[in-house]
Amino acid sequence: MWTFRSKTAEGEPSQTGAVDAPIDLSRPLLGLRNIEKVYETPAGKNYVLRRITIDVQPGEFLTIMGPSGAGKSTLLSILGMLDGAWTGEYAFLHHPIHSLNNKERVAINKQYIGFVFQQYHLLDDLTVAENLDVPLSYRNVKRDERASIVADILDKFQMVGKKDLYPRQLSGGQQQLVGVARAVIAKPKLILADEPTGNLHSTQAKEIMELFQKLNEGGTTIVQVTHSETNAAFGHRIVNLKDGWVVSDVRLR
Ligand SMILES: Nc1ncnc2c1ncn2[C@@H]1O[C@H](COP(=O)(O)OP(=O)(O)O)[C@@H](O)[C@H]1O
Ligand SMILES: [Mg+2]
Repeated sequence: MWTFRSKTAEGEPSQTGAVDAPIDLSRPLLGLRNIEKVYETPAGKNYVLRRITIDVQPGEFLTIMGPSGAGKSTLLSILGMLDGAWTGEYAFLHHPIHSLNNKERVAINKQYIGFVFQQYHLLDDLTVAENLDVPLSYRNVKRDERASIVADILDKFQMVGKKDLYPRQLSGGQQQLVGVARAVIAKPKLILADEPTGNLHSTQAKEIMELFQKLNEGGTTIVQVTHSETNAAFGHRIVNLKDGWVVSDVRLR
């Protein structure tokens, strides 16, 4: 079993005793200990995440819920290695993320994680097909094989006719679908999805949730943020955030 020292927030009172269990790097897919995120604003410190301590096992389908501003997107960005400005400990697989630099974190993101952004974040100057190719380009997949994987997913998402369009030529819902397709295309170990169906019709939303369910049954770990009870019911566990604190952590089945 490994333990490691926390990065300690400057000027923060000691958090010793808040959580005693050391992280076992061999067990959960990801383990968070006392994660804190603070924004410095002209009005003072804005605490966005408070002592977040969660383990996620391989194969879990976890939902993060909570009111707007609770810190859900911030937490997902940290899980996805997109944000390095926080304190505490984060173990992902056997990697101590809190000790890594930005480049090392990005490499882990590219290798293991598919991220669905709340605001889609497609690359504006790439077509739909080119956007979908990006995660494959990070892996050891040959070019012609990549083209056939992209063709398959376009078909699955019924977007073959949109493949040469640019994101600005798509509706919000269509961009969201491309965002989901991009997150799953390279079969990541972990899918992080920030309100992935927020701009979809209920039938499309159900299809995306069924896709996640199928991937999860195949072993993919999923952490989704949603306001939808219907979407949450697809997962196995709900963590509720409020004002940056975990206020409940409930297993559904
Ligand atoms: N760049 C920033 N500077 C200061 N505060 C921020 C910044 N980004 C987010 N916040 C604050 O962090 C809090 C949590 O935001 P967020 O994680 O987006 O919440 P949620 O996704 O739960 O709606 C909010 O109060 C928000 O105002
Ligand atoms: Mg959000």
